[in-house]
Amino acid sequence: MRGTAVIDPTEFGFIEPLLKRLQESSRARNGRPFVTLSYAQSLDGSIAVDPSHTCCLSSWRSLQLTHFLRSRHDALLVGINTILADDPQLTVRHWPGPSPRPVVLDKFLRMPCDSRLLRQPLRKPIIITSDAAPVQHRQRLMESGAQVLVAPLDAEGMVDLASTLPLLQEEGLRSIMVEGGGCVINHFLRERLVDYCVITIAPKLIGGFKAVSELCQPADQPPLSIRECQYQVLDGDLIAFGPLDPA
Ligand SMILES: NC(=O)c1ccc[n+]([C@@H]2O[C@H](COP(=O)([O-])OP(=O)(O)OC[C@H]3O[C@@H](n4cnc5c(N)ncnc54)[C@H](OP(=O)(O)O)[C@@H]3O)[C@@H](O)[C@H]2O)c1
Repeated sequence: MRGTAVIDPTEFGFIEPLLKRLQESSRARNGRPFVTLSYAQSLDGSIAVDPSHTCCLSSWRSLQLTHFLRSRHDALLVGINTILADDPQLTVRHWPGPSPRPVVLDKFLRMPCDSRLLRQPLRKPIIITSDAAPVQHRQRLMESGAQVLVAPLDAEGMVDLASTLPLLQEEGLRSIMVEGGGCVINHFLRERLVDYCVITIAPKLIGGFKAVSELCQPADQPPLSIRECQYQVLDGDLIAFGPLDPA
């Protein structure tokens, strides 16, 4: 672990309100997992220079916070474009703790069989797809170690999130950390399916690919609010966190 001979278990005590919500939600039975949205952006709201490339924005300590938060969730969800751009491991490496189950939204099953997620035999990734995916792709990915679940499509032709979350709950996943990319972040926010936000704001300017766009269209829609938003500085990054108002 880079620069961390000693792990201070109180280091992320400020995030206790989220841990409490996670604990409460594990007892509640509301038909879907608790959803935490957590991503890193530049000061100008970019999550990448362009969507086909990865871009490291977080400081070391905010990266550790991300891994700490991963270890407290049952699953970690991303869109297929993030897999194709970054080939991420989606593990907990920079903090002690278990790695969550990876979940990928992938309507056409574009996930490559040699992706890093499929090279980790201990954590079978779940791929949420649709009837539009070729059957042979499903077979190939299952043989490569993935669990494939089929969900309906929504009015925009995307995997329907409201149907997907109960499917994940049936798999025993009671909390999900949604990390990106932009399309997935937007969709969860638009569908009002985010319970809690932890947003890392790095002191960088990129002018690149934005995390959130056209959320309040048509223009008379009220903005979404993080209730009693709190702020913490970690190695120069600002962490903004709090529950998202359901409105
Ligand atoms: N800074 C950060 O914290 C962070 C975190 C993660 C990713 N990223 C960056 O984000 C970029 C990729 O973002 P992106 O917006 O291009 O792609 P994305 O959000 O990773 O994936 C979007 C794709 O997922 C599939 N999908 C299926 N159902 C969906 C649904 N209900 N909602 C949303 N997507 C659904 C769609 O492809 P199909 O139609 O083929 O199913 C869609 O095009 C990369 O540059 C990556 O590095 C940054």
